Amino acid sequence: MKIALVTGANRGIGQQICADLAAKNIQVVLTSRDLQKGEAAAQIIRASQPQVQIVVQQLDVTSDESVNALHDFVLKTYGRLDILVNNGAILIDDDVSIFNLDIPRLQATLEANLYGPLRLCQAFIPLMQTNGYGRVVNVSSEMGQLSDMGVGTAAYRISKTALNSLTTIFAAEVGRGNIKINCCTPGWVRTDMGGPSAHKSVAEGADTPVWLATLPDDAPTGQFFADREIIAW
Ligand SMILES: NC(=O)c1ccc[n+]([C@@H]2O[C@H](COP(=O)([O-])OP(=O)(O)OC[C@H]3O[C@@H](n4cnc5c(N)ncnc54)[C@H](OP(=O)(O)O)[C@@H]3O)[C@@H](O)[C@H]2O)c1
Repeated sequence: MKIALVTGANRGIGQQICADLAAKNIQVVLTSRDLQKGEAAAQIIRASQPQVQIVVQQLDVTSDESVNALHDFVLKTYGRLDILVNNGAILIDDDVSIFNLDIPRLQATLEANLYGPLRLCQAFIPLMQTNGYGRVVNVSSEMGQLSDMGVGTAAYRISKTALNSLTTIFAAEVGRGNIKINCCTPGWVRTDMGGPSAHKSVAEGADTPVWLATLPDDAPTGQFFADREIIAW
C-alpha cells in the first residue's frame, strides 16, 4: 500500500485529494494546522468511504518543528513516503496592486506558499530517494503563470511563480528516475479560497493533483499541468 501525505487537507481541494487518494487504496496522512479540524475532515471522508485508511497529523507548514515532527512520525510509522502533495496555501492580498503590496504580507505569503513546500520537499524527497520511488505534487495556480501574468494579488502570484521554480529545481536536482516532481493548477475551484462563483467543483479541482500523485513510471517530471496537460510556465 502506498503512503501519501497531503498538506492543508482539512478543507477544500486538499480534503478532496485525501478522499480520492484513499479511494485508490492508498494510506493517506491527512495533515492540518488544527488537529481537530483535520479529524473532522477525515470523519467526513470515512463516513462516505468506511474502508479507507486515513490518519490525521498536525502540520503547520510554516514551522520547522512541525515539519520535523511529521517527518519523525512518517519515518517511524511507515519507513517511507511515496506521495507528497503540497496543497496548503494562503491568499491574503486579493486584488492588491503590486504598488501597494506591503512587505509583511508578501513575507507571510511566501512563508506558507513557498517556504512551506520547500520544507516538505527537503524533509521528504530524500526519503523517496532512499526508497527509489516518489510523486511530488506542488499545487500551484495559473496566477503564477509567467507567460500569462495578470494584475493584482501580487504576493500570491509571486509565491506561485516561485513554487513553480522550486518544482523545476528539485526535479533537476533529483534527475531522471522514478521520482516525479511536478506542479499544477487545479483551475478556479469553489472553495473558501476560490469563492462560490468559481467554474470547477472541488472534485474537478482535485482531479489533476490526484492524477499527478499517481503517475506511472514513464511520466514526465519538472512540468506544469492543467487538466492533465502540460502548460506553459
Ligand atoms: N480554489 C481555487 O480556485 C484555486 C485556484 C488555483 C490554485 N489553488 C490552490 O489550490 C490549493 C488548495 O486551495 P483551496 O481552494 O482548497 O484553499 P482553501 O479552501 O483556502 O484551503 C487552504 C488550506 O490550506 C491550509 N493552510 C493554510 N496555511 C497553512 C499552513 N501554514 N500550514 C498548513 N496548512 C495551511 C488551510 O488550513 P486552515 O483551515 O488551517 O486555514 C486549508 O486547509 C492551494 O495551494 C491554492 O493556492 C486554488
